Amino acid sequence: MLIRIIYVSKAVGPQTTTMTNAILQKSQAWNQANDITGVLCQGQGVFLQALEGERRTVTDLYARIHADQRHTNVEMLHCESIVKRRYANWSMAHVSLSDVDPETTIDWPEFDPYGITGLLVMARIDDLLASGTVIQSRTP
Ligand SMILES: Cc1cc2nc3c(=O)[nH]c(=O)nc-3n(C[C@H](O)[C@H](O)[C@H](O)COP(=O)(O)O)c2cc1C
Repeated sequence: MLIRIIYVSKAVGPQTTTMTNAILQKSQAWNQANDITGVLCQGQGVFLQALEGERRTVTDLYARIHADQRHTNVEMLHCESIVKRRYANWSMAHVSLSDVDPETTIDWPEFDPYGITGLLVMARIDDLLASGTVIQSRTP
């Protein structure tokens, strides 16, 4: 049974390129080997991640990510059973919220992922992906 979850968290310390690359490298390799797909939006002190895959696998991965010391205030925004993957093309797409186009950056301060529903957050993630702001991805 497939599920999709979305969570938000706050980075501990600055979100350096080194840290981001380390997370992405690990994520893309592990996720690809374990049939996990998704997207990681990162920037302005926040992580926003969607994960899709077998329920058991996603549950275990989320527990590991939750315990990761590189972020805190991890809050589950959304969890649903799915028939079809939304992010099937990416073992872990990466959207950098600092690199998005000016219009999107202007919108961002009003966008508080802690204060809105997971479905709205998912729509926002889809907007970011559709506007071509994916800067790193790998097909599973
Ligand atoms: C924001 C964030 C997102 C992460 N996403 C993933 C992911 O999608 N897949 C993954 O395998 N690890 C991910 N990690 C790394 C895990 O938290 C963890 O470091 C990794 O699974 C290794 O776990 P271990 O040290 O217990 O073996 C992420 C970490 C952070 C901080």
